[in-house]
Amino acid sequence: MDNAFFKRVENAYRSVERLCPFRPSLGIVAGSGLSGALERIDGREIPFARIKRFPRPTVKGHPGLLKISDRAAMCGGRFHSYEGFSADEVVLPIALLHRLGVRTVVLTNAAGGIRKDLEPGTVALIRDHLNMTGLNPLKGSPPEERGSRFTDMTEAYSGGLRARIRSRYPDLPECVYAGLPGPSYETPAEIAMLEKLGADLVGMSTVLETIAARYLGMNVVGVSLVANRAAGTGGKPLSHADVIAAGGRLSSRMTDFLISLIDLLSEP
Ligand code: HPA
Repeated sequence: MDNAFFKRVENAYRSVERLCPFRPSLGIVAGSGLSGALERIDGREIPFARIKRFPRPTVKGHPGLLKISDRAAMCGGRFHSYEGFSADEVVLPIALLHRLGVRTVVLTNAAGGIRKDLEPGTVALIRDHLNMTGLNPLKGSPPEERGSRFTDMTEAYSGGLRARIRSRYPDLPECVYAGLPGPSYETPAEIAMLEKLGADLVGMSTVLETIAARYLGMNVVGVSLVANRAAGTGGKPLSHADVIAAGGRLSSRMTDFLISLIDLLSEP
């Protein structure tokens, strides 16, 4: 991150500003196959293609669309480093949401379940993460006035907001999410290692976005939909098509959950 990055954010903001009057304080990033909630938001639809110098997602299940209502701004689609995007590009949507006035962001993803109780179909709150990507969006020269590059990550995923969500959904499991670079899935030995390191879930997104959001002073909520058992723990080989299909199959539950989070988190 550097001044050129924030110029790019400003350009993106100017494109969106012209197309949409709403400035909600809640943002949502929809992960693989989880964009169903877009249809349930009544707002302005802005394809990424209409946002100046904004990349386009290359992955199936990520439409590349921003939808903004008076209550929430939702990104249907995100950028992953395994698509060849830089860490800056991965966090561009987060910085754009921030520029639009978003102060709480819900990052959703599809993940593999490592911990025994995390069967496909489970929705889980992220309590903490392991950034195993080898990347960090704050590398470079982020402008000091926006915050210290030595960003505190002690409570990366807001404890207060997790408590608020769990008061409505007491059975929701809390998990540690390991973010890996992908795009190959893990070996069973890697999953065994991640388990020893304290990971409950594994995926290929979210962690860089959380770091950028915390640097920018936003509150972060992380929500994973368990799409599959992690490699070597479910007796089945993994495929992206299955992960997308699981997202699609299970997404009505996730969609209902996300829509209810809009009520819960946009309250003061
Ligand atoms: N591993 C990594 N990323 C994933 C997985 C997985 O098992 N499932 C969904 N995204």
